[in-house]
Amino acid sequence: MDIRETAARYYDQNPDFPDDIPFYLGLIPPDASVLELGCGTGRVTLPLAGHCSYIQGIDLSPAMIQIGRERLQQAGIPPEKARLELGDITNLNLGRRFDWIIAPFRVLQNLETDGQVDGLFQVIRSHLAPDGNCILNVFHPNRDQQGLCEQWVDPQEQPDWEKMVDGERVVCSSLAAAMDKEKLVLYPQIIYRRYRGDTLLDEAVLKIVMRCYYPHDFESLVENHDFKIVNRWGGYHGESYGHGPELVLQFGMGSRSKRPG
Ligand SMILES: C[S@@+](CC[C@H](N)C(=O)[O-])C[C@H]1O[C@@H](n2cnc3c(N)ncnc32)[C@H](O)[C@@H]1O
Repeated sequence: MDIRETAARYYDQNPDFPDDIPFYLGLIPPDASVLELGCGTGRVTLPLAGHCSYIQGIDLSPAMIQIGRERLQQAGIPPEKARLELGDITNLNLGRRFDWIIAPFRVLQNLETDGQVDGLFQVIRSHLAPDGNCILNVFHPNRDQQGLCEQWVDPQEQPDWEKMVDGERVVCSSLAAAMDKEKLVLYPQIIYRRYRGDTLLDEAVLKIVMRCYYPHDFESLVENHDFKIVNRWGGYHGESYGHGPELVLQFGMGSRSKRPG
């Protein structure tokens, strides 16, 4: 089942994406090959396709991938430069390695269980070149763990954004539906409604998983999977780690992973 089937068409309307594209363009050299895990509709794939030697995007959602493929085609980007394929980033074997692996806009947080997270790190290990680099990102929770557990759930739908698209009004709101307080997993619902005048034309509800990580836990997660952190940021505008809205880690293979055999 594709949980994004009906909501995918609204994804690119979001006016609040992080300003991460210049960050990736500045970090990844032009001759690099890139694997993008959870590429969605190609928001980051497209600008990187014009920049690096090759980018391969993987996503679980046929609806998101379909939009991304249409965008690549419309931009005239050939398959030798960029390719989007259906796949599960927790269980994947492409049979090749990449100079860079990225998973922009908090893809890691969509993985609910320890088994899925372990699977992702195994996929990174088997697809990263020996001297390659991986970047993962999560949001920095804006309150401490106790506050998150006590205050996050809210049965009231909250307005997020609203905009006109081709003469129709698209309204997005969200609902903080439930939380697993032990595993720090949030279960938000994103609700898109499309109107012509006052007439409701469409309603799509996306129920997602957002597993939360605090700065130290995120670093430990990476290091405990035998990767070596080489850079850390707190956002995309020079914020230091732990002092901004995002947590961004760049890491390479650890010593055990690099050992042959
Ligand atoms: C928040 S979107 C980010 C999309 C894109 N990276 C961006 O920056 O706009 C998260 C994406 O991760 C994908 N995703 C979540 N779990 C996945 C999995 N196990 N395998 C592949 N893709 C997954 C979703 O389908 C979705 O398109």
